[in-house]
Amino acid sequence: MRLQPDQPLGIFDSGLGGLTVASAIKQLLPDEQIIYFGDTAHLPYGDKSSDSIIHYSGKIAEFLLERNCKTVLVACNTASATAYAGLLDKFGDKALVMDVIDPVVDYVTEKFPSSKTGVIGTKNTINSNTYPLNIREKIPVANVVSMATPLLVPMIEEGFIYDDISNAIIRSYLSNELLDGIEVLILGCTHYPIIKNQIRKYYNFRIEVIDSAEIVARHLKEKLASENLLASERKSEDLFYVSDFTEYFGKIARMFFDSNINLSKSDLWK
Ligand code: DGL
Repeated sequence: MRLQPDQPLGIFDSGLGGLTVASAIKQLLPDEQIIYFGDTAHLPYGDKSSDSIIHYSGKIAEFLLERNCKTVLVACNTASATAYAGLLDKFGDKALVMDVIDPVVDYVTEKFPSSKTGVIGTKNTINSNTYPLNIREKIPVANVVSMATPLLVPMIEEGFIYDDISNAIIRSYLSNELLDGIEVLILGCTHYPIIKNQIRKYYNFRIEVIDSAEIVARHLKEKLASENLLASERKSEDLFYVSDFTEYFGKIARMFFDSNINLSKSDLWK
């Protein structure tokens, strides 16, 4: 693999939630060009079969590699839990293949090794048990519990944020006795940073609420630096592709990404 610093960063998600990660990356690494792919034609991945997610992820990785990306960053917990290992196997010699789960597991096990940790995410992410397994690989006696919170993605996408409906849904999930006594909560879905403060408020700011966006951006920066792949000047504009486009997706994109962005429709699935 002969990668060059001026190649773009390839990032993908099932839809637009991964823009929370792309946004943190843009802030930390302003000289990098980002090529983002949101598979809006197939979202949500949260309740798709593993076979479908692996198939979609493989095609998207090829799409990013055809555009000369130096990374294939899986900015989706569901695809990270399901497809990352296969992507690493298949494309690890062509680009830096990275996920959003490993950096968070490293961070939490280093910073909070003896805290009771909760994980919330989509059904697929939670059913895969990836977070508890990876945490216990580092700390075998770790006290970690996980719970699917499938209503949160549609709730966020429909704009129910900081209001009575979202407060009720969040309270209904987080008051589950499984999560009693947690000291750390991992937001195991790239949509959830949007409601991070609302969740922190639910806990009266008493527990650590961890999201992947900044942690993954920092990890990516370290990885690029260690491989001498940090871009030193921006050469091209960021590109944001989606596999299906509606006005609605344009609106959602602005919620997940700080600046105004233009989504281009890709014909990957044609
Ligand atoms: N962004 C996805 C994740 O991080 C959730 C959305 C979906 O179900 O596709 O798991």
